[in-house]
Amino acid sequence: MRIRVGVIFGGTTVEHEISVISAVQAMNHMDHEKYDIVPIYITKDRVWYTGHMLEEIDIYKDFNSLKKYAKKVNLVRKDNRFLLTKAGLFNKEVAEIDIAFPIVHGNNMEDGTIHGYLQTIGIPYVGSGILGAAIGQDKVVMKQVMNDVGIPIVPYLWFFDTEYTGNREQVELDVNKLGYPVIVKPATLGSSVGIGVAKNSNELREKVAEAIKYDNKIVVEKVIENLIEVNCSVIGNYEHQETSAIEEVMSANEFLTYLDKYAGGSKAKGMAATNRIIPARINKKEEEEIIDLSKKVFRTLNLGGVCRIDFLIDKKSEKIYVNEPNTIPGSLSFYLWDPAGKPYPELLDTLITRAIKDYKNKAKKTYSFDTNILSLAGLKGTKGLKGIKK
Ligand SMILES: Nc1ncnc2c1ncn2[C@@H]1O[C@H](COP(=O)(O)OP(=O)(O)O)[C@@H](O)[C@H]1O
Ligand SMILES: [Mg+2]
Repeated sequence: MRIRVGVIFGGTTVEHEISVISAVQAMNHMDHEKYDIVPIYITKDRVWYTGHMLEEIDIYKDFNSLKKYAKKVNLVRKDNRFLLTKAGLFNKEVAEIDIAFPIVHGNNMEDGTIHGYLQTIGIPYVGSGILGAAIGQDKVVMKQVMNDVGIPIVPYLWFFDTEYTGNREQVELDVNKLGYPVIVKPATLGSSVGIGVAKNSNELREKVAEAIKYDNKIVVEKVIENLIEVNCSVIGNYEHQETSAIEEVMSANEFLTYLDKYAGGSKAKGMAATNRIIPARINKKEEEEIIDLSKKVFRTLNLGGVCRIDFLIDKKSEKIYVNEPNTIPGSLSFYLWDPAGKPYPELLDTLITRAIKDYKNKAKKTYSFDTNILSLAGLKGTKGLKGIKK
């Protein structure tokens, strides 16, 4: 029997459309002999849909026909089965899945939110666990963890929006100490949304005002001026990691913008449309360091599935910094695995197979006790409940 894979995508995130592109690409490359694909599309207002028409990119151009032909569903657990049931009175069964494959990007989805739901109902799923996904999405906590294990990161500072509005002078003094130019980023977004470079305190005010629209946590980093940007993808788990080819990404602007990333050609190409050079023009020593650091980041955050670790290299000082991990990278980084000898269908197959294996291994650990401690003697009656009495 073919394995039924529920591909989950979309959701309430600024990277909604990118997720649609990544998911459609993946569904079109999955081995149909081995897998039954069940698309699960979450709209921006959190309604879940399924139906085979969701495997085609054109349906997303016309939301009305999507609503008309796709079925509104909920993903539930029933008698140890994972079902998509029709939203409404009778909860009619529409489809069954064996494993979930979230292909989502950005906050509210990639940050552990969707993982939490999947974990709660207990379905096996492809990718990192909740913690890795959450840390990977928060540029502040991610940097704090990197610092702790000695992974090189760019000098930075951070603040909450109210700390800034309450004491702008202090923040400006701190940024002065860090030294201009700086790059201002909302802490939990992605795809360069809300990011800007500031060369002085006037520009800082502008860029912070922009970033604050998106997030209550703001990061300010030193700009790496003689920049080479390279990315390396990693698959595996905490025991074993494999790295892809390394790409060098090019930008016509000061930094890679949303448009650079996704509109450099046909939009439906997703990340594959970015201007890139594979393999990156770096020397052997740099290559080894990138591979080493990529695996280290992956292990430190206990990531899984396919991730992409992004680096900033200062050409002058030859220093390598980790910029950020992407726990569900755009286009699942398939274009980095193809040159590494792993065509897209094989990559997807590896990811699903490993997720099932890891799920089985994890199921051997003890998660709950059969005994109900609430039923034990001494806890009987209201006496035992003293602790929760207020
Ligand atoms: N410290 C930096 N110095 C120079 N350029 C940077 C720096 N940080 C980020 N960039 C540029 O900005 C882009 C977006 O920043 P990034 O931290 O990757 O945010 P996102 O999560 O939105 O992808 C990067 O791809 C890179 O081009
Ligand atoms: Mg990035």
